[in-house]
Amino acid sequence: MKIAILPGDGIGPEIVGQAVKVLNALDEKFEMETAPVGGAGYEAKGHPLPEETLALAKAADAILFGAVGDWKYDTLDRPLRPEQAILGLRKHLGLFGNLRPAILYPELAGASTLKPEVVSGLDILIVRELTGDIYFGQPRGVRECPDGPFKGQREGFDTMRYAEGEIRRIAHVAFQAAQKRGKRLTSVDKANVLETFQFWKDIVTDVHKEYPDVALDHMYVDNAAMQLVRAPKKFDVIVTGNMFGDILSDAAAMLTGSIGMLPSASLDANNKGLYEPSHGSAPDIAGKGVANPLATILSAAMMLRYSLNRAEQADRIENAVKKVLAQGLRTPDIYEEGTTKVGTSQMGDAVVAAL
Ligand code: NAD
Ligand code: IPM
Ligand code: MN
Repeated sequence: MKIAILPGDGIGPEIVGQAVKVLNALDEKFEMETAPVGGAGYEAKGHPLPEETLALAKAADAILFGAVGDWKYDTLDRPLRPEQAILGLRKHLGLFGNLRPAILYPELAGASTLKPEVVSGLDILIVRELTGDIYFGQPRGVRECPDGPFKGQREGFDTMRYAEGEIRRIAHVAFQAAQKRGKRLTSVDKANVLETFQFWKDIVTDVHKEYPDVALDHMYVDNAAMQLVRAPKKFDVIVTGNMFGDILSDAAAMLTGSIGMLPSASLDANNKGLYEPSHGSAPDIAGKGVANPLATILSAAMMLRYSLNRAEQADRIENAVKKVLAQGLRTPDIYEEGTTKVGTSQMGDAVVAAL
């Protein structure tokens, strides 16, 4: 089993370093090869997703990814910006199914900005479509506005679109995930305004016929955002498009205490996957040794479960994380009075010790 390690930028190398430490502490040793990606890819090879990095990702059994991006690259031409690396990997590898589980560990009930009674026991799964939607739709760009009161001015535009097969395959992923959990699925759309999402709703409703044991409901995305902070435990599995899923998963992250706690798996049709924390490169805290590595460590656990068929090892890592939280160790993002503040590397060491 070979794992491609793509640390990326900002806190990426710091947090991926901890996950690698944890993987190396398991009895079974995995072959790992590291390659530059994002701003680091641009610096090393002149491209955010260098050919060699893409080739390594394609050849590996699974990919562990940190994060990409830094403000200093925001003025580069879009194809050269760090974010193109993660978008390119998702597209090139067909990683259309993004699983973002938002679980509140009981010890962190007080770390959430929401009242403990609202979030305690939270265990929801966001299934985000990852290779379609307005993220990838063509045409896009800046052009001369063709009509309306601003005719003749410059306008920016993007295209939101979803093909039937694209909606069907993510719906199957979501219904099957729901079957293994609470058997409830909420499809989040904006069918009241957008053609793309009326179509989405119709197709998800059709796929539902194959999953009579799962209860399906539909919710508009604005309401879903509100319900996520009002009564998040009412959700079991949420399925939605690329952009709504991006936004809702960051909101859901805060229910777990911190965005530093939210792992993710991005899977193709055969469960080959890329595993990364849901957060970004956090340039504001990069290099300070304070980033929370747990989302990345938990992403490595997801990798063992989904792509490497090592469910027992995944359980071991997840239990070690629980143990460390029970010991009261906290990075600053989840710190509360009465707990012990630790840095990124100390947190990684503690998880290794707890293994
Ligand atoms: P961000 O997720 O990087 O940071 C948002 C806030 O959360 C910051 O205050 C940051 O310090 C904090 N935070 C994030 N991860 C944390 C962790 N592990 N521990 C403690 N605190 C943490 O989002 P942003 O600031 O909007 O974006 C920064 C850069 O990251 C941008 O270039 C963006 O494009 C990129 N980004 C990349 C990915 C990815 O690689 N998949 C995801 C999101 C954003
Ligand atoms: C994420 C990130 C990415 C996205 C960016 C960096 C392209 O925000 O993984 O959630 O929008 O998908
Ligand atoms: Mn995001």
